Amino acid sequence: MQVKTYNAGICGIGYYVPERIMTNADLAELVNTSDEWIRTRTGIAQRHIAGEGEAVTDLALQAAKRALADAKVEAEDIDLVVFATLTPDRIIPSAASTLQAALGAKHAAAFDLSAACSGFVYGLSVASAFVQQGIYEHVLVVGGEVLSRFVDWEDRTTCVLFGDGAGAALVGRVPEGEGFLAFDLGSDGSGGDALDIPAGGSRLPVTEQVLAAHQQFIHMDGKAVFRFAVKVLGQTVEDSLKKCGLPPEAIDWLVPHQANQRIIDSAATRLGTPAEKVVINIERYGNMSAASIPVALAEAYEAGKFRRGDVIALAGFGAGLTWGSCIMKWSKEDKS
Ligand code: UT7
Repeated sequence: MQVKTYNAGICGIGYYVPERIMTNADLAELVNTSDEWIRTRTGIAQRHIAGEGEAVTDLALQAAKRALADAKVEAEDIDLVVFATLTPDRIIPSAASTLQAALGAKHAAAFDLSAACSGFVYGLSVASAFVQQGIYEHVLVVGGEVLSRFVDWEDRTTCVLFGDGAGAALVGRVPEGEGFLAFDLGSDGSGGDALDIPAGGSRLPVTEQVLAAHQQFIHMDGKAVFRFAVKVLGQTVEDSLKKCGLPPEAIDWLVPHQANQRIIDSAATRLGTPAEKVVINIERYGNMSAASIPVALAEAYEAGKFRRGDVIALAGFGAGLTWGSCIMKWSKEDKS
């Protein structure tokens, strides 16, 4: 029996960031740091921070509504919600289920996906498989984070890096030859201790001692993650390019995870991608983990940068350690 398959791609995209902005100068009042140190080491000038009582699904709801409006798809027509996040509202229920209810996507299945900063690319690969096989027609993929609640505001080595936000993409059927061309996903769990939240899971439940030691917050060996990132970011794009038979010169736009300007520059240099083809917004948002790539993608689209047929490479890396990239042919008409 021959099974009919479909081409899958992004049919709608949107993003949302909370209103409150925290500048490097604001941070210098909290910890021993400076605007100069943060800018030169990371490229970050400011980040958006969720308001009191604002959780990740609140940000995601706004991003998802925009993605649906852009795709001209109703919430009731969504078949599946995949929510990539490391900062869900609660451990259970999933952020995806909470978002499903808030959206009124009453026919959708829903689950969270845990791959940290690589989560959005992982989520697209899941959506792509469901749509290609004809199992589902409309899959909403969200990358959202409220990292400000998991950051140790007394630790200058991490608190200056992160920000809050959400991006969403509606994945559906696209014409032949367009949409997702290849994915490359990977994991090296032996590096898991380099970037973790030690407590709050089944390994180390939260106790008073745990709280006193700040083990409920993000801990990172910045240098180890930096070395890993410089190695994998360009490599994963090369690997997914190989899978679809394209050379690095074919890339019209590189949309990388926004963790550090120096990491992005080194990947772009390795791929030979000129700076004007690299989408960068780290200066205004910091590192939003799973939200970084979809927010950058949605912003660039709204700015009218993409033309139908452009080859776009997405590439992420993060806790796990994980990495993931995707090559796609943009299938939407120009926004401009
Ligand atoms: O999406 C998750 C993936 N995460 C990442 O990709 C992060 C990857 N790592 C990095 O981006 C970089 O390692 C950092 C930006 C985190 C740090 O940059 P670095 O160039 O590796 O700095 P460092 O950790 O070697 O620190 C250099 C100095 C140290 O002082 P000493 O020991 O030389 O006296 C730090 O204590 O800078 C000090 N320092 C700071 N100074 C001012 C560390 N953080 C700060 C700070 N302000 N916020």
